[in-house]
Order: sequence, then C-alpha cells, then structure tokens
Amino acid sequence: MQECLLEVKDLKTSFHTEKGLVTAVDGVSFTVHSGQTLGVVGESGCGKSVTAESIMRLLDESAIRYEGEINYKGKNLLKLPEKEMEAIRGNEIAMIFQDALTSLNPVYTIGNQIAESIMAHSNLNKKEAYEKAVEMLRLTGIPSPEKRIHEYPHEISGGMRQRAMIAMALSCRPQLLIADEPTTALDVTTQAQILEVMEELKKELNMGIILITHDLGVVAEVCTHVVVMYLGQVIEEADVETIFSKPLHPYTNGLLKCIPQLDGDRTKPLFTIEGVVPSLDDIPPGCRFAGRCPFADSKCRKEPPPLEEAANRHKIRCWHYEEIQKQGAFEDVAIPS
Ligand SMILES: Nc1ncnc2c1ncn2[C@@H]1O[C@H](COP(=O)(O)OP(=O)(O)O)[C@@H](O)[C@H]1O
Ligand SMILES: [Mg+2]
Repeated sequence: MQECLLEVKDLKTSFHTEKGLVTAVDGVSFTVHSGQTLGVVGESGCGKSVTAESIMRLLDESAIRYEGEINYKGKNLLKLPEKEMEAIRGNEIAMIFQDALTSLNPVYTIGNQIAESIMAHSNLNKKEAYEKAVEMLRLTGIPSPEKRIHEYPHEISGGMRQRAMIAMALSCRPQLLIADEPTTALDVTTQAQILEVMEELKKELNMGIILITHDLGVVAEVCTHVVVMYLGQVIEEADVETIFSKPLHPYTNGLLKCIPQLDGDRTKPLFTIEGVVPSLDDIPPGCRFAGRCPFADSKCRKEPPPLEEAANRHKIRCWHYEEIQKQGAFEDVAIPS
C-alpha cells in the first residue's frame, strides 16, 4: 500500500453571499495515495473546483467558511497559518488549471518563469535553473525547448502553454498534483499527449494526482480511482474498473452514456442527461439528483440518501441501487476501450 498523502474528511465549503450562506461542497470525503490518480467527475457546477481550491486554500477566506478536515501528511491544511500554507502551495502540492494564461505571467518568458520557480524550490543558481527548465520542457514534450524558453506565453499555442504550465507546476517536484480540467480546452491529440506526460511524471515522482474533469473518457485513460460528485456531494466512489463495469448510481450511468464512442453512429445525437444541476440556493430536500433521475420515487424526493458502502471500497448514495442493479437497468452502456 502506498503512502496516504491526502485525506479530505467531511469537507464543507460555504460562501457568504447576498442570498445568505450557500454550501458549494457539502460533506465530501476521499483519500489520495502516492502513485494514485483520483478522478473527480461531475457536470459543471458540482463543486469540483471549489473542492480543489479548498485543498489549496485559494478561495478568499474572508467570504468563506470551512468545516471538516483536509489532512496532508497528518497536518490539517484548514488549520494551517497562511505562511505555512504558502510553503506547501506550489511546492509540495501544485495545481494546474484549464487555462494556462491565468497561471502564466504574460510579461515574463516561459524560461524565466520556470527558472524562477525552480530557484525558489532548490539551491540551483540561475544558469543551472535555466538548464533544468529546458529539461522540464523537454519532459513535457515541447520540441526545441532551448528556443521555447525565450518565448512569451502569448507567442506559443494553447497546447504548448498547457505543457509549459505543467513543466512549471512539476519543476518543484510536488508530491501531490491537482489538475483542474487541464486538457478541456485542447484538441484530442494534444489532450492525449498531455495526459501521457502527466502519467510519466507521476511514475517518475511517485506523485498522487487529483484529476478534475467532466469527461469520463479522460478518466478511463488515466485514473485509478474515481469520485463522482453531484451538487456538492459525493454520490459514488470506486476504483476505475468498477465505475465503468458496474456503475451503481443513475447519475454515473448517465455520465457514462454521454461518452462519445469512436466507432459509434455519428448520425445519432449524443445522449445527454435531461435537466440541469439545481441551484445552490434551491437544493432539493431529498436526493439531490431526484429531479433528473428516471428511477426516482416519492421517497427519493423526500429523504436524502446516505453514502453507503455497497461493496468493498465502492460507495453509493442512492435509495434504489440494489433494485436497479437487480433489474439490470444499466445494461446498454458501452465501456470505452
Ligand atoms: N466565490 C463564490 N461565491 C459563491 N458561489 C460560488 C463561488 N465559487 C463557486 N461558487 C458556486 O459553487 C458551485 C460549485 O462551483 P465549482 O466548484 O466551480 O463547480 P465545478 O468546478 O464542478 O464546475 C457553483 O454553484 C458555483 O456557482
Ligand atoms: Mg470547475
């Protein structure tokens, strides 16, 4: 068993808004071990980014309330003074985002930024740090990195920028990488290359990764474990094989049906889950997914289901998963190859 790096325990993140306190992340728990890639999936607005930003403590703390624990190597990050948090952020725990332009500084060259980050986290001098930056860029698959380091973020393509951001995030050799939709804006080929680079670096550094995505195709490729979120809560959790071969939650099944099949019939419209994620100031009293669930009954609309352990390390939040499973109601979902 690999070392448990991060334990998120009953995390609740609420914002003070004009409409009062809204809870965007409501009792989320999961763990990440070294060498694991945990996929966090769910539609837009389910609380994936807020979970990540809570771990990194990137949210404006004057407008926020945290409950629960985020234990990183035995320390509760939520209780850590900002100074100590700064030492962990971008050092032991690094984060990459969907849009590299927001995390790369437009007025410095790529090389300058990566070298600065390397110097901040090592004893290397400027020349050595630049050499290291070139090496990092090469690792992320950037061609002619010795030329690229002299370019500015706006001078290179989106895919190259994304690689540069990964190089920067990994230049401090983090133990935990949080990647929030890192390939969403990219074409399929670049996406595949970047995921591959992350996998290689994970092996090299024995990192733990939290990969946030709304794309289960990406999850199938690189994740070892999966947490499915819906409206601020975990609704299913299992290892990746189980999620794809034996999903228990109608929402997970819906997400699986949304994956485009490479050899599928292109003339048929893609499946979509009907309806939208409810708003945080109008959370349904029962199961949060009931309004969109084909299996929901009156109990689902009244009573919130607990997160239960359905099988060893397979958690599910649904009143009817056993019956649905017995009926074989999910049979028509194809597993991506
Ligand atoms: N600063 C904030 N103030 C109030 N609500 C917020 C804030 N940031 C995010 N939210 C709300 O929290 C919910 C979860 O957002 P987010 O984590 O960004 O979703 P996801 O990343 O899964 O798409 C959304 O309803 C969003 O509107
Ligand atoms: Mg997000």
